Amino acid sequence: MNNFQFKNPTKILFRKGQIENLSKEIPENAKVLLLYGGGSIKSNGIYNQIKKAISSFDIVEFGGIPANPEYAVLIDALKIIKDKNITFLLAVGGGSVIDGTKFLAAAALFDGNSPWDILSKNIRTQKGMPFGTVLTLPATGSEMNSGAAITRRETKEKLVMGGPGLFPVFSILDPEVVKSIPQHQISNGLADAFTHVLEQYMTYSVDAKLQDRLAESVMQTLVEVAPAILKDTSDYKASSNFMWSCTLALNGLIQQGVPSDWAIHMMGHELTALFRIDHARTLVIIAGSHYTYNLATKKEKLAQYATRVWNVSEGSVEEKALIGIKKTTEFFQSLGIKTRLSEYTDDYKGTAQIISKRFTERGWLGLGEHGKVTPSDVEKIVEMSY
Ligand code: NZQ
Ligand code: ZN
Repeated sequence: MNNFQFKNPTKILFRKGQIENLSKEIPENAKVLLLYGGGSIKSNGIYNQIKKAISSFDIVEFGGIPANPEYAVLIDALKIIKDKNITFLLAVGGGSVIDGTKFLAAAALFDGNSPWDILSKNIRTQKGMPFGTVLTLPATGSEMNSGAAITRRETKEKLVMGGPGLFPVFSILDPEVVKSIPQHQISNGLADAFTHVLEQYMTYSVDAKLQDRLAESVMQTLVEVAPAILKDTSDYKASSNFMWSCTLALNGLIQQGVPSDWAIHMMGHELTALFRIDHARTLVIIAGSHYTYNLATKKEKLAQYATRVWNVSEGSVEEKALIGIKKTTEFFQSLGIKTRLSEYTDDYKGTAQIISKRFTERGWLGLGEHGKVTPSDVEKIVEMSY
């Protein structure tokens, strides 16, 4: 096992009806900016619950943060934070609203030239404005980690940011919110969380037995609850297991002491930036090709995964590894997700070259757990995903 330091300060309040207790978590006398997305919280009743719970605070609202939070929209919110002397941010939404809020938490205290530098120059945030979240969509784990992904439409870029100053102070996880989530977002959540585990697991063994078993358990739980939650989003038992699995998939715990990959996410972000394909679906498009292309360096872990998660008992290491890749693709398909880029756009030719060129220009010359996935490898992997 590798050495590590681990600190995750986010307080989790996991309970049915937990939104009622929201006011106890917000600092007294705070001037709160309530941030949300395109309006789902208004139609499913969460907005009214929130407003009631925090009625004693001085509140300003900012709605309309789009999926794949858009830089230009967030800059409008940043102006409100400054003009109205906001002291606490409250994100109510999925990964997009929470990530957008993290950007604002960083930008509000940033003393550089342009807040875009936080993303383009990869500036880590040591101290951000405090914020809490009410999660409405299990998927990203953003509610208990310190990372974010921000999109800039004018330049078709999607970049990541983070730092120890960007953990939520608290996150409310009430599995009842799952009820109103449309089917395709449930599928996205399952696929995103599953891929988060894969990115931190499908590397090479460092004999970290517990991390391996934890990762496998999260994947097994997602596979087990997927049919139930897809069938009935008001199934509270399935929702609770789905929600906590998504959080655990990316709250830092399973990543400690082990190598991680994240190349699938880096390639996937480009597909969102170029074609506006949902985040989770971009991961599904890339995953199979990435693992097939990198079979030589990942086959032991792929075989272990095939055996432990998919009960594959026959065959050589390589044969098991290949079955593991096939099972992964079939799992994604069982969620109703298309697995090839050409199923999302007719304009896919040349995508591999564009992405590879962007990586070269940004100096991303070696991705993956060994730092050896070059822009030329990226080109081949993306091409295999057409
Ligand atoms: O905008 P509203 O109207 O609220 O509707 C949203 C949105 O259209 C809707 N929704 C959310 N909760 C709902 C609901 N609809 C009905 N009932 C509810 N309870 O769902 C749609 C998608 O929401 P979004 O927040 O975009 O989805 P998700 O949670 O999948 O977040 C995706 C974003 O997170 C980033 C992605 O890149 C993407 O930008 N990620 C963040 C990560 C992190 N911070 O750690 C890691 C991930 O790998 C990912 O990169
Ligand atoms: Zn993801």
